[in-house]
Amino acid sequence: MYRCQNCGYASIKWLGRCPQCGQWESLVEAQRDTPSTPQALAQIPLEETVRRPTQLAEFDRVLGGGLIPGSVILVGGEPGIGKSTLALQLAARLAQDAPVLYISGEESPGQIKLRAQRLQIEDAPIFIVHEQNLAAIRDHIRKTAASAVIVDSIQTVLPDGSAGLGTTYQVGQATFELSQLARAQKIPILLIGHVTKAGEFAGPKAIEHLVDVALYIEGGRDSDVRIVRAVKNRFGSTEEIGVFQMTEGGLVEIANPSQFFTERSGPVPPGSVIVPTVEGTRPILVEIQALVAFTRSTFPQRRATGLDLNRVALLVAVIEKHLGAQLSTEDIYVNVAGGLALRETALDLGIVAALVSSFKEKPIDSQTVVVGEVGLLGEVRRVRKLRERLSEAARLGYTRAVIPAGERVELREIELCPVGTLAQAMEALGI
Ligand code: TYD
Ligand code: MG
Repeated sequence: MYRCQNCGYASIKWLGRCPQCGQWESLVEAQRDTPSTPQALAQIPLEETVRRPTQLAEFDRVLGGGLIPGSVILVGGEPGIGKSTLALQLAARLAQDAPVLYISGEESPGQIKLRAQRLQIEDAPIFIVHEQNLAAIRDHIRKTAASAVIVDSIQTVLPDGSAGLGTTYQVGQATFELSQLARAQKIPILLIGHVTKAGEFAGPKAIEHLVDVALYIEGGRDSDVRIVRAVKNRFGSTEEIGVFQMTEGGLVEIANPSQFFTERSGPVPPGSVIVPTVEGTRPILVEIQALVAFTRSTFPQRRATGLDLNRVALLVAVIEKHLGAQLSTEDIYVNVAGGLALRETALDLGIVAALVSSFKEKPIDSQTVVVGEVGLLGEVRRVRKLRERLSEAARLGYTRAVIPAGERVELREIELCPVGTLAQAMEALGI
């Protein structure tokens, strides 16, 4: 039996190209399935999943509490984003309980030692080996009796009989075999995957379906903020994010993101507004900044950083229609301060407020937060988790909130201004 590692197609003879998904060299010999027996649902014993916390709270939050033995966790990201740094920091934390094996196909042990020194973990009980051959890797994992394994990166693992590195077949087969090993040894294996310029091909996307948890490290080019986000999690939610800052001494957890993302000094200029957003279950305050400036160009600029440009364009149209502002001769730039990327309609009212504030050159009170979805008719609509958002704003000392009308929230610490329309919202903000 041969099975396609890309789509699962089964064939009795080997084929160079999978007839189902068109992938080249994706068929590998598979063991003939042992006959299966259906089990009554009620009779299946509940398996207890024991999570092993990594002690890196922001990372554990994304995992859903910790690593599960026998599972495979993919950590993807662009070159230079900090995957090896995070992996080595994790290795050091996990090594506090039992030895950890770090397999590097890219860097020499000497290079890893240097990084460890920078991270001040050079004495951690981690075993380092430079190895690309899967058979040898398998051997090392068994012989070191490692309690956790890091493979940096999956693109450098050469499975038996593979023609070379950098093919979808290679990463797929290597992932498949390592996940079988993880299960057999009952240890977590962390795979690092480079997001390649070419996109999907032979990158982490190609193996997401083969792993238990797929995480990505994101970050702006001009920002030292790093967000760890799950796109797949067999053992938890994919909603939570972990927030880190890349420093001289490695990745540091940002325990109070709201404070981090809203640090402003001096008088607040027009175009700035604080919005309580929600990532997963966690409310985070962010600053939205807008710059609206007159232009003689026939094609005014429309730019958004960290926000959906289409959404911004829609909100600009709503402003023109319902607030009577003429924006077609204005360049428009909007961003989220601090390098976060957000996609939440609850930000709408904040984006509108920032745009109008800049356009009219009237600042928004620095102690006020703004939240609400904006509809096409210029109405302000309700958002989820309003109470959590407002509590977070109160916790950080904000005293006033412009919110959608019709919500039943009572908070003593913060003055609430319910608004039903954009016009009412702008009035409440005095802009
Ligand atoms: P690295 O983890 O090697 O990235 P990846 O494995 O994703 O390719 O590190 C990326 C960058 O981080 C590198 O340019 C150096 C920087 N860095 C720090 O700023 N502080 C540190 O403590 C370390 C180890 C790296
Ligand atoms: Mg690396």
